[in-house]
Amino acid sequence: MDTKEFWEKWWQKIDDDGWEDTPSIFAQFAISYYPKEGRVLELGAGIGKDTRYFAQHGYFVVSTDFADKALEISKWESTMQKLMNIDYQNVDLKKPLPFANEQFDICYAHAVLHYFSHEITDQLFREIHRVLKDGGSFATLLKSKEDPEILNSLKLDENFYQTPQGIVERFFTIEEVQKETDGLFKPVVLDASEQTHETENATFIRYIGLKIPHGEQTH
Ligand SMILES: C[S@@+](CC[C@H](N)C(=O)[O-])C[C@H]1O[C@@H](n2cnc3c(N)ncnc32)[C@H](O)[C@@H]1O
Repeated sequence: MDTKEFWEKWWQKIDDDGWEDTPSIFAQFAISYYPKEGRVLELGAGIGKDTRYFAQHGYFVVSTDFADKALEISKWESTMQKLMNIDYQNVDLKKPLPFANEQFDICYAHAVLHYFSHEITDQLFREIHRVLKDGGSFATLLKSKEDPEILNSLKLDENFYQTPQGIVERFFTIEEVQKETDGLFKPVVLDASEQTHETENATFIRYIGLKIPHGEQTH
């Protein structure tokens, strides 16, 4: 099954089973590092729990995912909540981001940037840097090598595992996140925490960094 098909089925099942509209712990943590207002780009937003949380706090959110089912559920829910400050777009993160330079104050990606090869991940971090305004904030939560899920997963390569769900995920160390973002963003938060996701017994890496302007980049 390809990954898009996997996620379309995943969100269909979530829709059938029912879900609560609660923001993630990381969204509630990250917002305290945001400017008071501005444009948020959310990548891999799923059914938009965090999208709506940011919109409810007055931000304009461009909410993206490549799963049509997720976008459909998310749009429906925001219509029900009469949230007008959200723009939904189908964006595949394996491709360059379809946005002009320096469009956003904040880029946010919760549990989504750990599905990609080294090349695509490098491209994505550079693309996030490109679409952020100077000093803009990049907040992401990534799978950690400390996560117990790794014990139940099949190792494919140094950092890549096939998880019990049947998809390939990349697990990071803090040092790897530091290396990937070095020269692009100045870290404000970089740690591993068990308290950052809805799932019990999970360890994720929290990263919040500020865009280093082009002229000041070290590489
Ligand atoms: C674990 S879910 C997280 C969803 C949401 N951020 C949350 O935390 O509730 C991962 C999301 O990434 C999306 N995704 C996976 N690969 C993608 C890709 N290549 N382009 C865009 N979205 C992708 C999936 O559709 C899914 O919604």
